[in-house]
Amino acid sequence: MTDADSVLGAMRRHRSIRDFGPEPVPDEHTERAVEAAQCAATSSWIQAYQLLQVIDPAERAALAELAGGQPQVERAGAFFILSGDTRRHRLLARREGAPYANSAELFVLATVDASLFAQNLTLAFESMGYGTCYIGGIRNRLAEVDRLLELPEGVYPLFGLCVGVPASDPGTRPRLPARAIWSQGRYPSDAEVMASADAFDERSAAYYEQRGAPGRNWSGGVWRKFRRPLRPDLRGFYDSKGASFD
Ligand SMILES: Cc1cc2nc3c(=O)[nH]c(=O)nc-3n(C[C@H](O)[C@H](O)[C@H](O)COP(=O)(O)O)c2cc1C
Repeated sequence: MTDADSVLGAMRRHRSIRDFGPEPVPDEHTERAVEAAQCAATSSWIQAYQLLQVIDPAERAALAELAGGQPQVERAGAFFILSGDTRRHRLLARREGAPYANSAELFVLATVDASLFAQNLTLAFESMGYGTCYIGGIRNRLAEVDRLLELPEGVYPLFGLCVGVPASDPGTRPRLPARAIWSQGRYPSDAEVMASADAFDERSAAYYEQRGAPGRNWSGGVWRKFRRPLRPDLRGFYDSKGASFD
């Protein structure tokens, strides 16, 4: 098999795991995965992220609750919080007595950098045979997560990541066809977007039916999710941690 085949194969095998065996993730494995993940591109080499592994079982139990009752946070072999991190840069500027000119761009940079690192990390762990599950649920009660973990100013927790040995395998979930999200030369028209969504609904309905949830489809999940504002207090929280949205 060529390198591309094995990398693409690992990417295509991704599925979120929510049911983990009791095996811990040895630090040597985490170190190997983190070192590889750090090779992700990073805006202007700023490396604006931090990975916090939560060790204390009581803290993991509390986080499982704060994330909306997600037992995998407590049970996975390892649990991490991924944050955009501007603190390192602030400290460096402060040491030089230089101004730190905050702006919305710096929040975006940190969020993008952290996400690129996180996806590389996920793929690294998966290529080593582990299962993973991102936990956006930590943003449900982010101020409480922040207090529990005593996160400093300039650090923007974004999501959690469970890593461990899968105890069961839910299988892969289908995606929109590549040609629906890849357009050349011009953006797809509304009609084209809707046609590809309708076609995908047929696939997603079959997927749900196979998994014992007949009558559901992808677009229904989408419009229902966006009926109400999601986590409306996030801006206030990130403001309080030193983010600027100007
Ligand atoms: C940033 C992010 C946050 C997520 N948060 C959660 C979560 O809190 N709980 C959960 O069970 N899955 C979570 N997921 C997993 C998604 O639900 C999952 O990736 C999606 O349904 C597609 O399924 P798949 O990963 O198995 O292909 C999250 C995914 C991402 C990218």
